[in-house]
Amino acid sequence: MKKGFRVAIVGATGMVGQEFIKVLEQRSFPMDSIELLASDRSAGKKLFVNHRELVVKETTPESFKKIDIALFSAGAETSRYFSPIAAQSGAVVIDNSSAFRMDPKVPLVVPEVNPEDIKWHNGIIANPNCSTIQMVVALQPLHKANLIKRLVAATYQAVSGTGSAAVEELTEQAKQVLDGQTTVPHVYPHQIAFNILPEIDVFLDNAYTKEEWKMVEETRKIMHAPDIAISAVCVRVPVFIGHSEALHIEFSQPMSPDEAKRILAQAPGIKILDDPAISLYPQPWSAAGTDEVFVGRIHRDASHPNGLVMWVVADNLRKGAALNAVQIAEEMIKRDWLHPGEEGK
Ligand code: A2P
Repeated sequence: MKKGFRVAIVGATGMVGQEFIKVLEQRSFPMDSIELLASDRSAGKKLFVNHRELVVKETTPESFKKIDIALFSAGAETSRYFSPIAAQSGAVVIDNSSAFRMDPKVPLVVPEVNPEDIKWHNGIIANPNCSTIQMVVALQPLHKANLIKRLVAATYQAVSGTGSAAVEELTEQAKQVLDGQTTVPHVYPHQIAFNILPEIDVFLDNAYTKEEWKMVEETRKIMHAPDIAISAVCVRVPVFIGHSEALHIEFSQPMSPDEAKRILAQAPGIKILDDPAISLYPQPWSAAGTDEVFVGRIHRDASHPNGLVMWVVADNLRKGAALNAVQIAEEMIKRDWLHPGEEGK
């Protein structure tokens, strides 16, 4: 039996792919080998992993023959095609795209919330939407203490969630605006620099955007709480890294801010930053590059006796994507649900 795992990253050249590499390195993930995969456009490109230069390869059906864990973040279309092939080849796929999240045969996992769901996977485990991950990390401990009946969320989401082209677009447009030039949007329907857009992903027939509806459906699936009433508005803001959320939560019983703070202070993956007297509250700028879900501005909702308001911020590329996926793999190893393959598998 080998000691480490054979890992593949599909989308290794992308925003989340790069973060996968960093997270695996920083957490000393037990790897025997790592394959960096992307589209044919990136084949031959060189990237470093643990100070070793590696060549990026084109993703093909043969890419997964000797892989134990395949981390995917190359868009839903790529996942829909290659994930089943990777799973059939014997790899466990942890997929960051939206392709399989609501598939009843695919677990949707946030390790702090529903790690036991990993067990019933059939080769593919879905990593939830970035805004949903940080929200459920903060909601679940409170829900366990006092059932949540209704939730209204407003998000302020960074451009890195859209990918590297969006990061370039914000950079370019910011320079153009400051230089007094006009901007031409490519990635977003309108200028994103010095602007905000209440449109993330496509509009659905119910007038919500797909991103907003992901927060509704994914939250219920992860928390095993099909009855929570949820409404969300998702907004793209000119921030590079870090999603922020204003949550208005209605519990079954009153929940005091002090009680919520006590519960959250003991919950895994959460750090409370909440002292209005010194303007202490979570911000995307300071959450970028960190692993925690930060919670602050915890106070009563004056519009409802059982209501609470809080402000939740996390690094969307890390806890919202790469870190959560790697934590799923780590959870499997810890629970002895994943073993390095024999040579030749
Ligand atoms: P490539 O760099 O070769 O285009 P981002 O979300 O930052 O835009 O990154 C998307 C990632 O998905 C990139 O690594 C990109 O590779 C990869 N990708 C896009 N299309 C495919 C595909 N058909 N097969 C494999 N990887 C893909």
